[in-house]
Amino acid sequence: MFAARRALTGAAQSRAFSASTRDLSKVTVLGAAGGIGQPLSLLLKLNPRVTDLALYDIRMAPGVAADISHINTKSKVTGYDPTPSGLAAALKGAEIVLIPAGVPRKPGMTRDDLFNTNASIVRDLAKAAAESAPDANILVISNPVNSTVPIVAEIFKGKGVYNPKRLFGVTTLDVVRASRFVSEIKKTDPKDENITVVGGHSGVTIVPLFSQSSHPDLVGNAELLNRVQFGGDEVVKAKDGAGSATLSMAMAGARFAESLLRAAQGEKGVVEPTFVDSPLFKDQGVEFFASKVELGPSGVEKIHEIGKITAEEQKLVDACIADLKKNIEKGVAFVAQNP
Ligand code: NAI
Repeated sequence: MFAARRALTGAAQSRAFSASTRDLSKVTVLGAAGGIGQPLSLLLKLNPRVTDLALYDIRMAPGVAADISHINTKSKVTGYDPTPSGLAAALKGAEIVLIPAGVPRKPGMTRDDLFNTNASIVRDLAKAAAESAPDANILVISNPVNSTVPIVAEIFKGKGVYNPKRLFGVTTLDVVRASRFVSEIKKTDPKDENITVVGGHSGVTIVPLFSQSSHPDLVGNAELLNRVQFGGDEVVKAKDGAGSATLSMAMAGARFAESLLRAAQGEKGVVEPTFVDSPLFKDQGVEFFASKVELGPSGVEKIHEIGKITAEEQKLVDACIADLKKNIEKGVAFVAQNP
């Protein structure tokens, strides 16, 4: 009886061991010392699925890493110096690379106003990722996401390592905001409000589909629509020159990374809206589009169609497409002119 129990325990132990070796997950944050980078790194340190956390920034990443490394969870945290070899080491072996590097908005700015500064930052980090972590899932947070995601794609294509299933623009914050704003109106628990948001990540390219939620009566609620599309401006205004959303964005980025890790570790049916290389509007010249995406061990498992929407929502999608096309072309043109 005892012997049998010991044997069982041994088998259970070896199962546990093989499961844990299979589930080793290195996650890298580029821009880890910033307003988003720090709380995002903190949340990743609290995630037991992350076993190795690599933090890189042009300033203070070793300091942030030293601080976070004292938190009593098992993952190893390493901060890297801002040198090419530091960046390469931060990226090597990463399963997920999150990129919140770059400048945030000030009052009166659109996300597109950030293009001139952030395009080259994202291009250079993408070059390093293509060389040192060509198989990683790349999660782009730096704005304007509608243009920075195509920039990463062009760099990876140029280096012959582009895998459209592993490149994501993080639009989770739009989904998070939509569910929270709806729950405030309807006096419900936001966890029960799954609002699909499609399109892109700025202004009119953000299209919430309330007709597909449990509150189709919210279609046509102009105030709510405006809040979802321009919710980021509320934060920019309230911070009064000191930046844009950082804490809610960190939560959204950590949630998306967690969804990818769950899917990579075999969980089925993990679906998140995200901005990906998508067939949905390619016939209209739009190479990237955010819709519900099922995640899996290879990254993108299945891109969902938009589905049934109202005529009013169709008008929003049409406006989105026109803007999105220009944003995407701008990113592609940038890499062509500044390779
Ligand atoms: P921040 O200025 O507080 O932090 C940016 C960090 O990036 C800084 O620590 C800076 O040193 C670092 N950095 C700059 N150049 C770098 C490089 N070449 N390599 C590595 N690190 C570099 O800005 P914050 O508030 O964290 O925002 C970051 C970006 O995220 C902005 O572009 C912002 O617009 C965007 N954002 C995106 C959202 C989304 O929903 N996708 C939501 C909110 C912000």
